[in-house]
Amino acid sequence: MSGQPWVVLKFGGTSVSSAERWSTIADRVAQCQEAGERPLLVCSAVSQVSNMLELAIQRAVGGSEAGFREVLGKIRDANQRLASELGVDLDEVAGGIFADLERLLLGCALLGEVSPKQHARILSAGELISTRIGAQALNQMGVAATLVDAREVLQTRTIAGHSTAARYLEAQLDDAFDPALAQRLNAEPSVVVTQGFIARTTEGDTALLGRGGSDTSAALFAAKIGAIRCEIWTDVPGMFTADPRRIPHARLIRQLGYDEAQELATMGAKVLHPRCIAPLAKQGIPLHIRCTPHPEWPGTEIGAVSHGGPAVHAVSAKRGVTLVRMDTVGMWQQVGFLANVFTCFERHGLSVDLVSTSETNVTVSLDASSANRDEASLTGLLNDLSSICEARTIGPCSAVSVVGRNIRAMLHRLGPAFEAFEEHQVHLVTQAASDLNLTVVVDEGQAERLVSTLHSLMFEGNSDDRLGPSWNSLTEKQVDEAQVEARTRWWQEDQKRLLSLAAAGPTYVIHGPTVDWAARALTSLDPVDRVLYAVKANPHPEIIKRLHAAGVGFECVSIGEIERVLETVPELDPQHILFTPNFASRAEYEAGFALGVRVGLDALHPLRSWPEVFAGQSIQVRVDPGTGKGHHDHVRTAGARSKFGISEVDLPEVNALAAQHDVKVVGLHAHAGSGILTPGHWSEMAAILTRVGAQFPDLEYLDLGGGLGVPERPGQSALDLEGVRRGLEKVKAAHPRLAIWIEPGRFLVALAGVLLARVTQRKTKSNIQYVGVETGMNSLIRPALYGAWHDIVNLSKLREEPNEVVTVVGPICESADTLGRDRLLASPSEGDILLVDVTGAYGRSMSSQYNLREPAREVVLD
Ligand code: LLP
Repeated sequence: MSGQPWVVLKFGGTSVSSAERWSTIADRVAQCQEAGERPLLVCSAVSQVSNMLELAIQRAVGGSEAGFREVLGKIRDANQRLASELGVDLDEVAGGIFADLERLLLGCALLGEVSPKQHARILSAGELISTRIGAQALNQMGVAATLVDAREVLQTRTIAGHSTAARYLEAQLDDAFDPALAQRLNAEPSVVVTQGFIARTTEGDTALLGRGGSDTSAALFAAKIGAIRCEIWTDVPGMFTADPRRIPHARLIRQLGYDEAQELATMGAKVLHPRCIAPLAKQGIPLHIRCTPHPEWPGTEIGAVSHGGPAVHAVSAKRGVTLVRMDTVGMWQQVGFLANVFTCFERHGLSVDLVSTSETNVTVSLDASSANRDEASLTGLLNDLSSICEARTIGPCSAVSVVGRNIRAMLHRLGPAFEAFEEHQVHLVTQAASDLNLTVVVDEGQAERLVSTLHSLMFEGNSDDRLGPSWNSLTEKQVDEAQVEARTRWWQEDQKRLLSLAAAGPTYVIHGPTVDWAARALTSLDPVDRVLYAVKANPHPEIIKRLHAAGVGFECVSIGEIERVLETVPELDPQHILFTPNFASRAEYEAGFALGVRVGLDALHPLRSWPEVFAGQSIQVRVDPGTGKGHHDHVRTAGARSKFGISEVDLPEVNALAAQHDVKVVGLHAHAGSGILTPGHWSEMAAILTRVGAQFPDLEYLDLGGGLGVPERPGQSALDLEGVRRGLEKVKAAHPRLAIWIEPGRFLVALAGVLLARVTQRKTKSNIQYVGVETGMNSLIRPALYGAWHDIVNLSKLREEPNEVVTVVGPICESADTLGRDRLLASPSEGDILLVDVTGAYGRSMSSQYNLREPAREVVLD
């Protein structure tokens, strides 16, 4: 078999976890063989197995035999599922490994500790099992594959001063060409399958290559046997110009140089482990990133490409950054100041990432991943620093980086992105000496907007042929099952009717049956006793009528909203209306009580200053749950920087005032934000409210707020309502006497609505294709205000293949009047009707007559 060039193919956890993926692997092997190449397969453990092994160790060390056995059972199940799908007998191929695992974990449980040597042996089981299943499966599929234990062929390097833990768990290896290994593998008769992540120490023990170890293994194998290419097969399509989960129009990067890829991998793109690039770069071995679920996608190719000229490749953001700002007037011309400062960081084991200095100030950043970055070491650090300067921490911050080549030559193009920072501070700016990146550190809440603007400035209409398709165009037809219900949109069946409605001018169309569907989904959650519709999402009378008929009550934030509800459904018991105003006047509270609705208090002032308004009433109290959540900083409504709710420390005063003035606090309320897709959120709110609720003797119910999100961007999954239900069921079991209320807005109406607008004209500037429609931010302000993403479709050409990348804008005199950037549409021409999706919530209700242009009208269909 010698003579054929080697290619190393690495398959990550999700790429080895099903029979379907193994058939992709077999196909790729066959393609390489047809091309006259010899594949070496480096495989990870089945998805989640390494994490479960870590958990089993923790449980064993904690002395819980039952605990580690339970996890071991799950590890077996995960592998058994794969083996069964592939028709492999798990006990036959891996029975011995499971027996070893059990013995090793029992040993840890008895001793109450785990040595690095045992730790490495236990973790290696994941890869040992997956490769045994895989090699056997390939043979059964007719691909002659030999399993080679990576520990027989990869030996670690002893490094002076390395701790035992590092020797076993973060082992280092030589990456030079190894003729003996090449010869050894050349002698194998067939395709070689081996493990990623593991190697052997000089003493013959098992060692691990640290985090991201399988990528490193693949690169090392490729370097040692002189492969002509290394392919990393993973569950993402490659490297992108931004995190595609946040910027769906981020473009796939088709080609990158090694140094650029290294910079990107280090700046937070998690596709590739940064350590795997150097061994390949040294020998000029190309590295391809490919997507196992979609082998037909092009992926990213990394190699010794040099294109000269300046270029930006990506904009990335790293969250959880803390800054340490050190000021002193004595620094000027003082020898050794920086040395003294850094000694303090070293003493507390804190490693510094970015540094910027001036004559009176040094500011450094600490990564979220930086070891030891806890409160205690930060306090210790500030103490030590206080003897040499004035030091304070700033955070939480995000580091936003522009990564590319010759960044200095691009600075002029970045300017507009910083205009928003008149109001918000840029805390630190650094530019890498290599000229491969420029990083700015800003408050965490500002990062998303900055990334989005920088990305638009750099990539909108960019025709660089090294950029591939956008994430949303790749994934458009690949929505996961959970979204199918939401994405099989009602309007696809209703094209004709919608086109005729749009003939009368810009129109929001709301689909009544979809509102009914959403109401049923929530009213049928059995632990929830009352669903109140947050009227602000869309106060259209027809929607109010429908929701009333569906058994939903109403949450209003103004007297206007209450009046709208009472006029629309006069038979409604006002007690089914909740009035939760924020910074409302005394007169509004009085009006609320006069109308007979339930009133919520969200500050101490009203009760302190106008107790007579509340005397004798039953009210609810809005508690600030401490941390906000939601799709954008503007819609997160908790924590010190949000104006909503009463801090926990003020609740005893609320209680005392209530008792004094004969006010009953019957409900506690928390609303942390809007557009939340984590199902555990509402039971977390309940946990906070039940904890603080102990002091309120008259408590009858918890209002857990709204915020239930719907999938908006491609790649987002629908909210797992079953998960929400499970969480609330536990709350109910623990507090059977408390009723549970929720007050969703978006969930009930967002998916039911679309905005229709006619194309007025087109314009090309530079490479950007603008498509103008007859209405813009006056009808739908969400893209301008939150950078919100709404799918846009050419309704007139619904059956045509989308083929043009365009930016859709309105007629308003503001540059923010953009409904969508870089969207793939079926070639829009004057007169076509574009449909802007998922606009039933906060669309028409936030519209305005700005520029004295009437916003889109709204029609509700039965
Ligand atoms: N309850 C309270 C107290 C609220 O403030 C809100 C929304 C809700 C319930 C309903 O939240 P939902 O279930 O709709 O997420 N204009 C933004 C959303 C702002 C929400 C304001 N408060 C947007 O377009 O995304």
